[in-house]
Amino acid sequence: MSQDCDMEKRLPIHNARLRVTKTRTKRLRPTFALLVIGILYLAVEFSTLILGPRRSTSRLPLHAQEALAKCHALNIKPGPPVGFNSRSESDRFQHGTKPVLIRNASIWTGRLNGLEVHKGDLFLENGLIKAVGDVDPSLLERYDSKDITIADAKGAWVTPGIVDVHSHIAVGASPSLAGANDGNSNKGLALPWLRSLDGLNTHDDSYAHSIAGGVTTSLILPGSANAIGGQAFAIKLRSTPERSPSSLLVEPPFGLNGSEADYTVPPRWRHMKHACGENPSRMYDGTRMDTVWAYREAYDKARQIKNKQDEYCSKALVGDWNNLGSFPEELQWEALVDILRGKVKVQTHCYEAVDFDAFVRLSNEFQFPVAAFHHAHEAYLVPEVLKRAYEHPPAVAIFAAFSRYKREAYRHSEFAARILNDHDLKVVMKSDHPAIQSRYLLHEAQQAHYYGLPENIALASVTSNAAEVLGLEHRIGYVKAGYDADLVIWDSHPLALGATPVQVIIDGIPQLDAPYTSPKPESQVAPVTPNFDQEARTTVEHGGLPPLQAAQSLSGRVIFRNISSVWARDARGVNMVFRTESQSDEGIAVVENGKILCSGLMTSTSCSSYVSSGDGHTINLHGGSLAPALISTGSSIGLQEIAMEATTTDGAVYDPFEHTSPAILGGEGSIIRAVDGLQFGTRDALLAYRAGVTTSITPPIFEGLLGGLSTYLSLSSRHKLESGAIIQEVTAVHVAVGHGRGSPSISTQIAALRRLLVGPHEGERGKWFKAVYEGNIPLVVEAKNADIIATLLNLKKEIEVASGAQMKMTLVRAAEAHLLAKEIAAANVGVIVTPPRSFPFTWEGRRILYGPPLTADSLVSVLVSHNVTVGIGPQGVEEENPMAGWAVRNLRWDAAWVSLDSRGAIGMGDALAMASSNIETLLGVQSEPAYGDLVATSGGELLSFEGKVVAIISPRLASVDIF
Ligand SMILES: *[C@@H]1O[C@H](CO)[C@@H](O)[C@H](O)[C@H]1NC(C)=O
Ligand SMILES: *[C@@H]1O[C@H](CO)[C@@H](O)[C@H](O)[C@H]1NC(C)=O
Ligand SMILES: *[C@@H]1O[C@H](CO)[C@@H](O)[C@H](O)[C@H]1NC(C)=O
Ligand SMILES: *[C@@H]1O[C@H](CO)[C@@H](O)[C@H](O)[C@H]1NC(C)=O
Repeated sequence: MSQDCDMEKRLPIHNARLRVTKTRTKRLRPTFALLVIGILYLAVEFSTLILGPRRSTSRLPLHAQEALAKCHALNIKPGPPVGFNSRSESDRFQHGTKPVLIRNASIWTGRLNGLEVHKGDLFLENGLIKAVGDVDPSLLERYDSKDITIADAKGAWVTPGIVDVHSHIAVGASPSLAGANDGNSNKGLALPWLRSLDGLNTHDDSYAHSIAGGVTTSLILPGSANAIGGQAFAIKLRSTPERSPSSLLVEPPFGLNGSEADYTVPPRWRHMKHACGENPSRMYDGTRMDTVWAYREAYDKARQIKNKQDEYCSKALVGDWNNLGSFPEELQWEALVDILRGKVKVQTHCYEAVDFDAFVRLSNEFQFPVAAFHHAHEAYLVPEVLKRAYEHPPAVAIFAAFSRYKREAYRHSEFAARILNDHDLKVVMKSDHPAIQSRYLLHEAQQAHYYGLPENIALASVTSNAAEVLGLEHRIGYVKAGYDADLVIWDSHPLALGATPVQVIIDGIPQLDAPYTSPKPESQVAPVTPNFDQEARTTVEHGGLPPLQAAQSLSGRVIFRNISSVWARDARGVNMVFRTESQSDEGIAVVENGKILCSGLMTSTSCSSYVSSGDGHTINLHGGSLAPALISTGSSIGLQEIAMEATTTDGAVYDPFEHTSPAILGGEGSIIRAVDGLQFGTRDALLAYRAGVTTSITPPIFEGLLGGLSTYLSLSSRHKLESGAIIQEVTAVHVAVGHGRGSPSISTQIAALRRLLVGPHEGERGKWFKAVYEGNIPLVVEAKNADIIATLLNLKKEIEVASGAQMKMTLVRAAEAHLLAKEIAAANVGVIVTPPRSFPFTWEGRRILYGPPLTADSLVSVLVSHNVTVGIGPQGVEEENPMAGWAVRNLRWDAAWVSLDSRGAIGMGDALAMASSNIETLLGVQSEPAYGDLVATSGGELLSFEGKVVAIISPRLASVDIF
């Protein structure tokens, strides 16, 4: 029976006479519904008995029947109606949708603790999964073959649709605009009556973007500015014919549109956003103490109402209506009362031990369970605290790497997911879209897997376990007959780097019209990831702040054995020196004082003589690799420890449009050098170093037009005066043109830039702009918008006519640069694409190329096809923390992804060059390529999920650092 049928038979509590009700409901299947009706009936009969037949109706309060129904439903726990699993049509079925037959798939079902895989077919009909593995021919015989959509998966992996338990799609908007900024209210600390649904705008480019990553369902939460921020709603991301927010909802709670609640079926789960710690404190100029009191005050209020209801019902149910009045309830607090009755999934943004401790006490004081702690950066350090929560331990919904942007996130660990899992806590990866774009939510699970979360749990963390956090595990999160037909067909194993959907199906409807994909025959099994057991243990031992410096630094001879490949920089970029052909081949490299003496196959190189000599430290790379070290740019790494803590960062330079440059700086002739503000030994720097990013070219932190002079620094050095710490004091002049904070018009910014270039060249600032004018140093311009880029290209031409010299210009960010690829190439301008996988954060950068599967090309591939010199920066958080240093460590995967997305156009060598040699070329570095560091990885290559960085070989520092 379908859900719709159940709905038709619902009990007409309001209007019908009770006797009629009784007979009509005899056919209702749900046994408890019968019970409810029975008791309801008896109660009224009973009241009739004692009050006497004449007086009965006059003494009953006006809404007695409804009050009784409410009383009976008070403590019914949410869940699917009885018979839900035998429904034959989804309540979300879109009529006219053809059934879908997927042949020959490798189906990860999510069942048996994520260990079940079926090889076979799938049949989808009426918005539901009808058959998994074997499809009974009788299911198909009812249709003409032309009436069925048939897809041959050719053995490809199929998973349930990705479920995101923490998203702000549509309560903000992408591109972000002030007119659609509905995530946070600032009207008070506790606002349980707010509903994200009321701000859910239908024009957000994120819907399509997220679906392109396989995301089918998201929980849309209000922001975290309040202790209690309001009710959250689960939606499916596909567009509906109705085009309304309401039509996106999955199992919305009853009564949203003012229709009466249905007391004959269990209620549906509701969700309530809570937030601990810094955010509410910041918004309300308060403290953690104020936030926790706001919870307690609100819950106390709710508890009083709940107690009144319980007292009321204990009388009403025995027919004692004397002076009882109407059912006690208050619209503002009803959702919190529902929490106390166990009908709401409490979703709580909480980072630190202090916050978990407080919230767990709250859950016990008021006796409600917590569905999940979100963000929860310190949860892995205090598993026992979480286990003390009322009724059951909360799930823990975390980021893989996004961290250290504020104090609460300082002790984040990449090992958190596996440590929590080792403690039997349920791990869920989440996006906090657009903080991490939910399109890449699966990549969060992949990273957790890389650092040690088992394969079955990693996949469950964004499917079945996520569905459970939403209370929707009876219909989504698994590939199972009777479940919603939400599936993703992948081009590779879902835990393989760069896994991309070839089709995404929501409610049985294929979402991708003509998907672009590239075959990935080598990535059809889960990557064999390195062992990080020791690192995970050390992290916990050190309370989340393990030492990160290299364990050993060797200046003598080091012999790397069992190498499968060596990549090296040369004048043309990065090229493969050799790769072993078979398992029995062994590669070798010998290093002395940080310089390669020789490398090659054991059998064909004189290197082997060093092995027999027995001198030196030997490192077995177990089939690993040597590759050029990566170079970071586009972040503030080296200038700050915690972006949002003013005293831990160099801070932003004066924006000349906002402030008059103080006289002490030399007035208008001043310019700031990043080299003067450097900090060494920051955790972001050391973690990047351990991930093969050994240096960075970092401009001053700036928010206006004028940045200053970037510097080229080593990420492993202890301080600035150490040998090799500064590779080049000044590399380039940095500016930004766009709608930054408080910026004047674009045309005003261009006018200012023109004057800076043409002169008069005043003071120190004038000296550097004169060097740009004369073509001696690059001008690096952050810009996203194609019209701004066009204006910049014109300005370059204008300057060149005036100066008679070739001006060096490099664009950074450049989201819309693909619209002008030819012109950018003709102008001989290079581009550092940041982030490498585009997202329409802002209006000025909205016209992005989505990349596969939505478009054949990506921004990088278009620029490369026009012979533009391209560099890439890390995929980071743009809006919340523009200069995210945490993201630098992932540059190796971002580079690999550029190649994997390019359908063969960009090789791994080209990708390595984009994250190393090209950065130097584009940012004015003058040193010799031979000076570059090399990264030794064991088990696999640097740009893979198999490789683990075990050593850095540095000719610059004349040493080999071993981790
Ligand atoms: C399934 O696809 C794989 C890969 O293309 C192929 O080798 C195999 O023969 C196919 N099996 C069936 C039953 O079609
Ligand atoms: C209100 O929502 C219910 C589902 O909860 C639906 O059955 C009903 O048709 C809706 N009524 C209106 C007027 O939209
Ligand atoms: C090299 O490492 C691979 C992968 O661990 C291993 O299978 C192989 O036996 C090793 N070869 C030698 C010569 O040690
Ligand atoms: C890019 O360079 C290659 C090799 O030099 C050349 O064949 C090709 O025509 C160039 N493409 C464009 C669009 O200029």
